Amino acid sequence: MEVRERFDDLAFSVAWPPSVTFGAGTAKSLGARARAMGASRALLVTDAGLAAIGLADRVAGHLRAAGVQTDVFAKVRPNPTMSEVTEGVALMKEQGHDFIVALGGGSSIDASKVMSMQMLSGRSIQEIEAKGVDDAPGTPLGFIAVPTTAGTGSEATTGALVKDDSGKKYLVRSVRCRPAQAILDPELTLSVPARMTASTGMDAFIHALGSYTNVQVNPIGDICAQEAIRLVSRNLARAIADGSDLSARSAMMLGSHLAGIAISLKGNDAIHGLSTAVESLVDCTHGESLSALMPHVLRFNREAAAARYAQIARLMGRDVEGMSAFEAAAVGIEAMIGLRDAAGTCRRLGDLGIRAEMTERLTEMAAKGRSTLINCRKPERGEIAELYRAAI
Ligand SMILES: [Fe+2]
Repeated sequence: MEVRERFDDLAFSVAWPPSVTFGAGTAKSLGARARAMGASRALLVTDAGLAAIGLADRVAGHLRAAGVQTDVFAKVRPNPTMSEVTEGVALMKEQGHDFIVALGGGSSIDASKVMSMQMLSGRSIQEIEAKGVDDAPGTPLGFIAVPTTAGTGSEATTGALVKDDSGKKYLVRSVRCRPAQAILDPELTLSVPARMTASTGMDAFIHALGSYTNVQVNPIGDICAQEAIRLVSRNLARAIADGSDLSARSAMMLGSHLAGIAISLKGNDAIHGLSTAVESLVDCTHGESLSALMPHVLRFNREAAAARYAQIARLMGRDVEGMSAFEAAAVGIEAMIGLRDAAGTCRRLGDLGIRAEMTERLTEMAAKGRSTLINCRKPERGEIAELYRAAI
């Protein structure tokens, strides 16, 4: 592994994520935990799919059994918009909810974070993007996240992505409105379909990869990222092939969470920077867009990230003994592209509806993104356009 030679110039801080309960069957503890946090009337924020398979009702039952009155709001869509957030906030005000439970993937957790930010501050999404909510007086609502996919790691992060009605994406953050607790119950992921397992798993992997290799300094984040790379690379194909494999599902859930901690401490890289622009222009799945961009950004970064890509090769079980870092980095890149190919996620942005004439707009957006700016090799505009052209 890459060894730090000097420590006298090391400076970093850690805002540790929420308290976490991990384990098969732990969703049953939700009611007692919410109760202990003072919940009396909760809004369970989820999506129509989880309501249709009865999971939303089952989880609401855990809350009700502990004496927490619970209403279910099952209207969050993939890539959530402010119209759902606004409806949820209006419902909470009208019904006097004092607690939020987010049940679902990143969309439900992100929408819940924004609802909590608006309940605390009363601010519009534009105001929240400009100045946040962490200076607002008052106390945020109690908030527990119960993820049902192993991917976004949103339960661990302060950020949330929402679109307005025109499709513009807002990335907003709040330390105070992140979930105060997360319950990670791998049993909840057993019914996730193979394709979604693949795309969310690639999202988790790319969080770990991006946070491990960007220019931010945080050794705790690096430790989490490396373990996430190890866990996800060894268990993703198994979880896709057999969704009922509880061991693979548990490893994926842990990997996804560790990757979420890593990005909350260090941020992402240009793969996410370029993908956010793609997702603003076309309605596509986050992990699919990331998958199409990944190989091109990896090759662009090979020299700048050589030592770290070499370590990724080792974490993925490749033998790079005796190779230079630059040679070993190529092995790491090949292993990462192999992981994507085994997952079967998207190889070309063209398949997601991206066309060559969109390159200029994409480049304009991606060049300003924070994830692009902290990439280990900062791309010039011309290079960003080149990366898009190669990925289309
Ligand atoms: Fe992501």
